[in-house]
Amino acid sequence: MDQTKIILHRDYQIAPVDPRIFGGFLEHIGRAVYEGVYDHQSRHADPQGFRKDVLRSLKDLDFTAMRYPGGNFASGYHWLDGVGPRTSRPVVQELASLSIEPNQFGSDEFIQLARKMNWTPMLTVNLGTGTPEEARNWVEYCNGPAGTKYSNLRAGNGSAEPYEVKLWGLGNEMDGPWQQGHVPADQYAIRAQQAAKLMKDVDPSIELVLCGSAEIGLPTYMEWDRTVLEYVGDYADYISLHRYVGNPAGDTADYLAVTNSIDQQIEVMDGLCRYAQAKTRSRKRYYLAFDEWNVWYRTQNAESVNGHGKVAQHLVEEEYNLEDALVVAGFLNSFIRHADVVRIANLAQIVNVIAPILTRGDQILLQSIYYPLALYTHRREGVALQAVVRGPGYESKNYGFVHTIDASAILGKDVLHAFLINRSSTESASVEIAQAGIPLKSVQSAELVTGPSAAACNTFDRPDVIHTQKLNNIQLTGQTATIQLPPLCVAAISFTMDDKV
Ligand code: AHR
Repeated sequence: MDQTKIILHRDYQIAPVDPRIFGGFLEHIGRAVYEGVYDHQSRHADPQGFRKDVLRSLKDLDFTAMRYPGGNFASGYHWLDGVGPRTSRPVVQELASLSIEPNQFGSDEFIQLARKMNWTPMLTVNLGTGTPEEARNWVEYCNGPAGTKYSNLRAGNGSAEPYEVKLWGLGNEMDGPWQQGHVPADQYAIRAQQAAKLMKDVDPSIELVLCGSAEIGLPTYMEWDRTVLEYVGDYADYISLHRYVGNPAGDTADYLAVTNSIDQQIEVMDGLCRYAQAKTRSRKRYYLAFDEWNVWYRTQNAESVNGHGKVAQHLVEEEYNLEDALVVAGFLNSFIRHADVVRIANLAQIVNVIAPILTRGDQILLQSIYYPLALYTHRREGVALQAVVRGPGYESKNYGFVHTIDASAILGKDVLHAFLINRSSTESASVEIAQAGIPLKSVQSAELVTGPSAAACNTFDRPDVIHTQKLNNIQLTGQTATIQLPPLCVAAISFTMDDKV
């Protein structure tokens, strides 16, 4: 393969990388909460019932914004069911995944967990079967200083101090016919605006995420977004994007080119936000919250989300392979390349349900996608740089032309991070990073995730097929670094610099 050249310049900056783009999502579905993060029966449980082994592995992923309690679950959830003495909480029918919800884990347990893990809580209110008033009450419960009805309730449940939840979602996927309480865009817009006003009146410091299109394939895609942006206007701060991708055709080259479509999804939504701003003559700039994203296709069917009226069933437990790990890295490259507009992003999800971590009894498995997440999250501070790629590429079946090497870069205080994906299944790649204005001194760390084949995956029997390895043989001469990449890999390289930026 011909050499690829990545050209960087310290002054060609996109924007500071918002740490919240390395967020996660914990939903009441399947075994995400119960048997996932929370399991009093496990021998790994701490005194509060949190699974220490799971939390240790999550800690290394260092998630920032953590979205909770759903997802589709949020549209049938009444938050009052999940607070107060656990023995008095109602057991309810959960209709999003046709399960039973025992309400043993609710707002207080989530905040306790978020504090333990240093997560920024992001709560999604129920705008499906719930009311704007119920949403407003939840804000008071979480953020009101003690002295009023719901803040006193919180104090009575053990926390006199407010929880200070600053990020709130105005419902979930309300454009989807599968959603409890689904309505057309104009009706959702009214609900969202009413809820937003009440919520911000209770706590003007909160930020709100409007429901954008759930899928780019829905007939209302873009028209939904335009309608709600224009109506809700200045009341909200972000609009959500969701995306699940997969390789049902078994075409690795095409699948790895899906990054083009993710870039495009971000760019058209940003374009729409600018259009709505101009049309409404607003001074307010909307930013993007990519608050559900991942690979999900093997378990995307009705049976996989059917809990058959039971608690914590094995729902949507996708098993991930090497090519999925590269696609996850591709999402992150895309978010970094769009750091000027993507301010929040949440991997869906974190444990058991379409997740990097699986539990089985007291065992734990780190799936392939765990490893690229860790590569990025350890190198996330700084300003995104434009990474110009010159080199070989190919025309993909569904997503157009892509370079064989996908890249992004972050310039930190005294460090440069480069992220590279080799999409070739057969060929190694030589990559030259040619940069200007960044006095590279040495390689601080260089890591690689690869494996024996695109389909290779970790299993409970063979848990270590895909893992992080050291990347050696990086040549550093003057302003140029040359890196050799094996086929199908994602690499993260951090260079120290001679002076401070
Ligand atoms: O993440 C799983 C589900 O996918 C969420 O509940 C929903 O919002 C989306 O459709």
